[in-house]
Amino acid sequence: MKWVDVADTQDIEKGKMGLVEVERKKVVIANVEGTFYAFNDRCPHSNAPLHLGTLQSKVIRCAAHFSSFDVTTGKTRTRSVEQEDYRGPTYAGGLRLWWILEI
Ligand code: FES
Repeated sequence: MKWVDVADTQDIEKGKMGLVEVERKKVVIANVEGTFYAFNDRCPHSNAPLHLGTLQSKVIRCAAHFSSFDVTTGKTRTRSVEQEDYRGPTYAGGLRLWWILEI
């Protein structure tokens, strides 16, 4: 397991998302009421970039076909997408956000 420093917590305001790149993978970080959640930028339905979607509270809605996901659990809220766990582990330490890479 490897920890990677990916962002400053002050870069992503409450209710907003940020896009970072971690070892050539695009990762979206969502700030839900001060807690940060990270997930793959690619929608599991048909690979659209999720950072172009909209975040309302803890739910992101894909801009392509409007599938929605709970960013706190990684679970889909629509029946068209079966993939459930696409969220990656994160840890907000001090003012930095960290992404854990499984090696
Ligand atoms: S690509 Fe996201 S809902 Fe289709």
